[in-house]
Amino acid sequence: MEWPTISNLKRGNTLMDKLTEGIYWIGAHFPEPAPGAALNSFLILDEKRAVIDTGAPATAPLVLAKLRGLVDPAEIDYIVLTHADLDHAGGLKEILAATPRATVVASEYEARMLPMWGVQASAKVVKDGDTLSLGRRTLRFLGLPFICTPGSMLVFDEADGVLFSSDLFAAMGPQKWQMFADEPQTQALRAVQEFKLGRTQYVRDALARVVDLPVKIVAPGHGQALRGDIAGLARSLMD
Ligand SMILES: [Fe+2]
Ligand SMILES: [Fe+2]
Repeated sequence: MEWPTISNLKRGNTLMDKLTEGIYWIGAHFPEPAPGAALNSFLILDEKRAVIDTGAPATAPLVLAKLRGLVDPAEIDYIVLTHADLDHAGGLKEILAATPRATVVASEYEARMLPMWGVQASAKVVKDGDTLSLGRRTLRFLGLPFICTPGSMLVFDEADGVLFSSDLFAAMGPQKWQMFADEPQTQALRAVQEFKLGRTQYVRDALARVVDLPVKIVAPGHGQALRGDIAGLARSLMD
């Protein structure tokens, strides 16, 4: 598996894409090397405004430019981190510098990692089952350890059934960006799941939680968004 290079950030990255009404993809897409890759960040516009994951240090300027195309960064209320990995939280320092009102939201374990990214701000710590009202939407936090790191969490928007799934349901590609995958992605998802997360009980437990949720859209940390029979897809990724 080849990883993206910063030089190819220059191409194909001007797009902002609507995930659903009020939620935008503001991530970075790398078309090369094939099959491409994406570091996904999302902006939720509601009475409160939230960013889900910041991307990496090198992609933060791009995420910020896309953010500025949609909203004044000074109006961002929350930056929610699914976990404190380089590709999800590494851009936090730069994004926080432009979002003075924002409170960082993270699990207790991941919040302790934030100084690693040069961030001294204290975070609003959330745990499994906690919720955060944004207005019309309420975000529910699913504490699911080792969906990459010990304190990782997924985030579920109860209003529209959008699951921000971080490193679960992640895939390499696409080479040409479009927001939603049109074909079943099971093999692509399984490849990253096994490579990145392994065949663990943590992964099976996380997929079982997804089966029980009314998910309409999966917004992963990498690759394209998914819709359709998400419970069936989660079941097929359990074995
Ligand atoms: Fe990760
Ligand atoms: Fe990741």
